[in-house]
Amino acid sequence: MTDFKIAPSILSADFARLGEEVEAVLSAGADIVHFDVMDNHYVPNLTIGPMVCKALRKHGIEAPIDAHLMVKPVDRMIGDFIEAGATYITFHPEASDHIDRSLQMIRDGGCKSGLVFNPATPLHYLDHVMDKVDMILLMSVNPGFGGQKFIPTTLDKLRQVRQRIDESGLPIRLEVDGGVGIGNIREIAEAGADTFVAGSAIFNTDDYRATIDKMRAELAL
Ligand code: DX5
Ligand code: ZN
Repeated sequence: MTDFKIAPSILSADFARLGEEVEAVLSAGADIVHFDVMDNHYVPNLTIGPMVCKALRKHGIEAPIDAHLMVKPVDRMIGDFIEAGATYITFHPEASDHIDRSLQMIRDGGCKSGLVFNPATPLHYLDHVMDKVDMILLMSVNPGFGGQKFIPTTLDKLRQVRQRIDESGLPIRLEVDGGVGIGNIREIAEAGADTFVAGSAIFNTDDYRATIDKMRAELAL
């Protein structure tokens, strides 16, 4: 049976109470904290950086932190997030001049590495680096904002990546990010995803546990 993981995106959390919000989703059954980093350059929005990641660790958060870097250039932020205690560090290949080196930097720093593909980014960036990635993240919206609608062509892309991962025989996680909720999580899992980012679908509800339980119930069907 697939080891499904639910990764709430804290982009939709109440930033004035971030520590409490992260504790709340984790005690509601979340597996991974998805941490969206935006630089108002690679994407048209500005969020949080390594200081906030470090503050969550200092606050006592021990769960895996999945730092999704929507920044350009990426390399300097990779070092900062390693130091800040990130578990996964993922970046968009077109935001790095030297993809192989950026991936290597992440692993050399003791973190898990990942490449992120926007809806229209081709998969050929995987061609020579499958052995250097621990996670592949397919964006199912254009990055920059929470609360957008899932782009259905992602399902076909997920199937293609699932096939590549299975053929490689490598233990690479396949994550999906954007517009994921109770109503479509099952279909997304059937297309091959095993790690589900959900921001508004969790944080915009009153009962995080009930929402996460419903997602897991869909995955168990
Ligand atoms: C978008 C971010 C997502 C976002 C998802 O650029 O990478 O992680 O928070 O939000 P929802 O789940 O609301 O689409
Ligand atoms: Zn994200």
